[in-house]
Amino acid sequence: MRALNPSLRIRLSLAAAVLFLAAGVIRAQTSPASQQPPAIDARAGEQARPEWPREAVRGAKAMVVSDEALASEAGVEILKRGGNAVDAAVAVAFALAVVQPAAGNIGGGGFMLVGMADGRTGLVDYRETAPAKSARDMYVRADGSLDTEAATIGYRSVAIPGTVAGMELALKTYGTKKFREVMAPAIRLAEQGFPVSEKLARSLRAARPLLQRFSASRRILLKDGALYNAGETLRQPELAATLRRIARGGAREFYRGQTAQELADEMRRMGGLITLDDLAGYQPKIREPLRAKFSVNGAEWDVITTVPPSSGGVVILNVLHMLAPLPVASWDDAQSVHYVAEAMRRAFADRAAFLADTDFAKVPVRGLVDPRYAAERRATIDPQRASSSESVRAGNPAPFDAAFAMPALPAQIAPDYAALEWHVRESARSGHTTHFSVVDAAGNAVANTYTINESYGAGAATSTGFLLNDTMDDFTTQPGIPNKLFGLVQSDANAIAPGKRALSSMTPTILLRNGQLSFVTGSPGGPRIISATLLTILNWMRLGADAQAAINAPRFHHQWMPDVLYVEEKFSSEARRALESCGHAVRTRFQIGQVEAIAIDAKTGERLGAADPRRLGAAIGY
Ligand code: DON
Repeated sequence: MRALNPSLRIRLSLAAAVLFLAAGVIRAQTSPASQQPPAIDARAGEQARPEWPREAVRGAKAMVVSDEALASEAGVEILKRGGNAVDAAVAVAFALAVVQPAAGNIGGGGFMLVGMADGRTGLVDYRETAPAKSARDMYVRADGSLDTEAATIGYRSVAIPGTVAGMELALKTYGTKKFREVMAPAIRLAEQGFPVSEKLARSLRAARPLLQRFSASRRILLKDGALYNAGETLRQPELAATLRRIARGGAREFYRGQTAQELADEMRRMGGLITLDDLAGYQPKIREPLRAKFSVNGAEWDVITTVPPSSGGVVILNVLHMLAPLPVASWDDAQSVHYVAEAMRRAFADRAAFLADTDFAKVPVRGLVDPRYAAERRATIDPQRASSSESVRAGNPAPFDAAFAMPALPAQIAPDYAALEWHVRESARSGHTTHFSVVDAAGNAVANTYTINESYGAGAATSTGFLLNDTMDDFTTQPGIPNKLFGLVQSDANAIAPGKRALSSMTPTILLRNGQLSFVTGSPGGPRIISATLLTILNWMRLGADAQAAINAPRFHHQWMPDVLYVEEKFSSEARRALESCGHAVRTRFQIGQVEAIAIDAKTGERLGAADPRRLGAAIGY
């Protein structure tokens, strides 16, 4: 393409985009040439599919999409035995706890968004909580520095796991089957073992420095240091026994029975904080999800998404409202990317200032998702120049939120810029977390994202065979200082307190089109979860992309601080240059997110399973 004066180029693209939208044209936005990624992410120890699929997997009745074929199969097995989407989702969650130890779990927590065909919706919040003995400054050393290792590795970084209680609550509220039946595939996989994939072998090898520090992890996941090769069988007898006990005794066993007892004993021996009382007191919750309406290209859309303690739903709705009247045409178009990045920058500044667990802090959720507030924020976007994050601060949503009285001065944060620079240099390390989507024949849908935080969580496996989370790092471990794993600057509202849930970015989301189920999405990736999920929503809802193109399309991410626009390697180099010329500090990240989505073909009703090829996701339908 000819080199143009960058601001002229942006103005031209803007004009083109306006014309394009005015014509009401819909097109998929990915060009095949830009879809081929490098085959292997050596940094993450994982492998991507060499050829990216262009078409989603079609199923006339039902679909399960997860990071692992064995887990997707577990969901399909339950669906074929007459289970509904929630029964299948619980089966997938337990199966992932066996076959994807980096993220699948019973030692962590997450969010399950349920959209039932009868119109009921609910967000099962099974986020981990801080133990009673935790304290606001527990990771701050006597000299005032932040002990990032204590917040991310080993027993002191562990929050009270929520997964088993969450799965039980989901099953009892929306499912039709018993734990015994839906856990059968997971128990089988743990007991009989399963062949280690190339992806898992690489991932375990990459995690060796962390896992070898903990004896049970070393024995179970590293074969006592010998390492698993692809094709070998990984059996997990301790985990199988634990799953069998849970299948018999329910969540009560995990939180009050033998599993609880052994975990509490281990915590005491190893310097962790979690006690039997902490475990017995854990409560999952069903929250009312956020819901917003958008009119796009002649259709009425409902976006149903998370409430705090996930920040994702608020950020996504705020960004969608900011973008509503702006031209967004394609990710090869610098103008479109500029608008989305500027909207992200503003929404993440609000995330940092306001968002936290609403059971503990006053959060102006209603104001932040109000279209009038978005209009105020939109008005501060310069169409041609990148703002500086230092000058973009949290807005004032109070006038749009009757329940929220703004403090005299908005909660502004003074970030530690040196720590942010360190994060930009050093954060190439890959995270984990896992998202899966399920749609059944009746049209019930589940979007579930759960985690032990980074890959292999705290690194420590219990004697009962499962890895523990290091989710305490999602709290504001020290105000103004970015958190270790994601460089997120967060406010005092997200400070550590006993019983509190740390602010999360996990954003399982469901879209209805003209009242009918249309799209089920979500992603791992720390704060990049929000951007990856948002982009798939824009691709499907606004750009009219095909299901698989909506997942394959190049991604980008801005989180306000650090003031960096991250783009994937396959992002258009022309668009990148144009963005740099209008003031964006652009950096490459190998991959952003791993979205496992299901779309519904509006004409045929078919379920379109769109697995993310970035880390070899697996869509299985029938
Ligand atoms: O809840 C959160 O936002 C994080 N614990 C998610 C962690 C994650 O996605 C790891 N991947 N990079």
